[in-house]
Amino acid sequence: MSWIREKELSLIERLCANVLKAGPMPKHVAFIMDGNRRYAQKCHVERQEGHSQGFEKLAETLRWCLNLGICEVTVYAFSIENFKRSAEEVEGLMELARQKFSRLLEERDKLEKHGVCIRVLGDLTLLPLDIQKLIAQAVLETRNYSTCFLNVCFAYTSRHEISNAVREVAWGVEEGLLEPSDVSEPLLDRCLYTCKSPDPDLLIRTSGEIRLSDFLLWQTSHSCLVFQSVLWPEYSFWNLCEAVLQYQLNHSSIQKAREQHLQESRRLQQESDQAWVRGQLQGAARREDAQLRRRLLQQCCARREERTQSFLRALESKRGDFLWGLCTVPS
Ligand code: FPP
Ligand code: MG
Repeated sequence: MSWIREKELSLIERLCANVLKAGPMPKHVAFIMDGNRRYAQKCHVERQEGHSQGFEKLAETLRWCLNLGICEVTVYAFSIENFKRSAEEVEGLMELARQKFSRLLEERDKLEKHGVCIRVLGDLTLLPLDIQKLIAQAVLETRNYSTCFLNVCFAYTSRHEISNAVREVAWGVEEGLLEPSDVSEPLLDRCLYTCKSPDPDLLIRTSGEIRLSDFLLWQTSHSCLVFQSVLWPEYSFWNLCEAVLQYQLNHSSIQKAREQHLQESRRLQQESDQAWVRGQLQGAARREDAQLRRRLLQQCCARREERTQSFLRALESKRGDFLWGLCTVPS
């Protein structure tokens, strides 16, 4: 079955979508698609069938999101923790990924028509090589599309992602691209797998579990979290509307918290720049010279920005080389 559904909403769904769209809408929604195995048990079908139906629900949900004007979706498709499941279940999920990413490549015309950019976030090296290659191809082929974005977290956990970002920054310092004093929260943010996306406005977890299970821990500190008891394969358009409504009810406090965080982050950066300038002026005769202090401050910011930009370019090209390299590995 296809990733891209072109069916329109029904009349009643369209009506409800229009009412919701009169309020503030989330631009980016993240899903923890939980409850596939409980659904399989409930319906007396094989576990793998639960996961297959979970994929069908993902494709349907993407269509609802598009119809609601939500142009970025991030889904937790396979956690690194899932490798601890039985070999049979892990192989089943890998086979599903193999089929679905191959199918995605067959649908390149539809992806182009709808401008869908696919990103796969996670440690690809943990996956079988053939799946890595399929993913690399899908990501590279769609990297310039920009109407909507689907981020598939695969072989992902948040702690792994954050540790990886720290390692990347350490690499930048080792290579002489960064100064240790350049390390900051915004810099780490730009080294995460999610660096190309705004933080999710809304995170939805199905199946009644009230926890994040190591998903987007960094990115959701100012998101609206909605936990719904429905099992993922049974998720409906109405469940999605209910979650969006929850977001709308919390919108103003979320915005306020985000602005406060931004201000605090700017204040911390200023404090650190001023400390650097004080360090430079230690013992200097003209330490009280306000003009000199201002000039040094500007210089400090400009040089940090230059180092940061060249480090981020190097990082992006390292990540790109990894994907291009996969496309040239013989099968
Ligand atoms: C959680 O339910 C779901 C998963 C671990 C897999 C999610 C995968 C999909 C929906 C398919 C997506 C596939 C691709 C290729 C993008 P669970 O297994 O934890 O079920 P339970 O909570 O009832 O035990
Ligand atoms: Mg589960």
